[in-house]
Amino acid sequence: MFSPEGPSLRELGEQALSSVERGYDLLAPRFDHTPFRTPDRFLDAVGAGLAGLGPFEDGLDLCCGTGAGLRVLAPLCRGSVTGADFSAGMLAEARRAGSARRPGPRWVRCDARAMPFRDGFDLAVSFGAFGHFLPAERPALFAGIHRALRPGGLLAFPIGAPPPFSSPWYWAFAGFDAAMRVRNAVWRPPFVMYYRTFPLRAVREDLIRAGFTVELRPLPEFGRRPDGSPRARLVLAGRA
Ligand SMILES: C[S@@+](CC[C@H](N)C(=O)[O-])C[C@H]1O[C@@H](n2cnc3c(N)ncnc32)[C@H](O)[C@@H]1O
Repeated sequence: MFSPEGPSLRELGEQALSSVERGYDLLAPRFDHTPFRTPDRFLDAVGAGLAGLGPFEDGLDLCCGTGAGLRVLAPLCRGSVTGADFSAGMLAEARRAGSARRPGPRWVRCDARAMPFRDGFDLAVSFGAFGHFLPAERPALFAGIHRALRPGGLLAFPIGAPPPFSSPWYWAFAGFDAAMRVRNAVWRPPFVMYYRTFPLRAVREDLIRAGFTVELRPLPEFGRRPDGSPRARLVLAGRA
């Protein structure tokens, strides 16, 4: 499926019936051949949005998967670069892909909801992973990132505007989320992945509650909706 090197339908099915962590362990060797890996176009748009704010010293890619976010962190950070993820399989792939970089990135296996870092980073980024967190988990997630940053540090991530009611994407996301809710009601372990549980307004409130100041910037590469609002924004959450 997706491409000859991508996972088969049977492999995707097996992944979908596993936990999130085990599912990504299974998918890891083929992950870079799926659309789930954040495309370079998104990474580069975020990199461009952050370029004027750096350079930064130490950077963290949270829920790094196979290391897509390094494309953003590496040119912006003068010090160390760390990728954190709870899937050992994804980290093994990231390690393989990142081995050419000197100094090499540090790969840390941890759950983003209970991160072990304190005052360790000046910039944290995260791509494509927030659908794996339930709204009730956001306070622990954001508190952990806040703790992991040094004073003055920045958390940055892109967020897309929800598709309008009239768009086929609206129905695709709604249908996917409904199917996942049914799956999680009848099957254990749960596989938490929803497209519509990370809305900007609620996320912004949770960030502020966790102690961040929040600034939003349009990502011009993705254009604007008919009402003039940006299709995608860069969220800049600062630790004061
Ligand atoms: C869709 S992948 C995105 C990977 C990469 N950031 C990218 O953009 O290509 C989501 C990643 O989040 C990780 N993840 C999900 N929940 C996590 C958690 N609670 N703690 C740490 N990692 C988590 C998964 O293991 C997976 O590698």
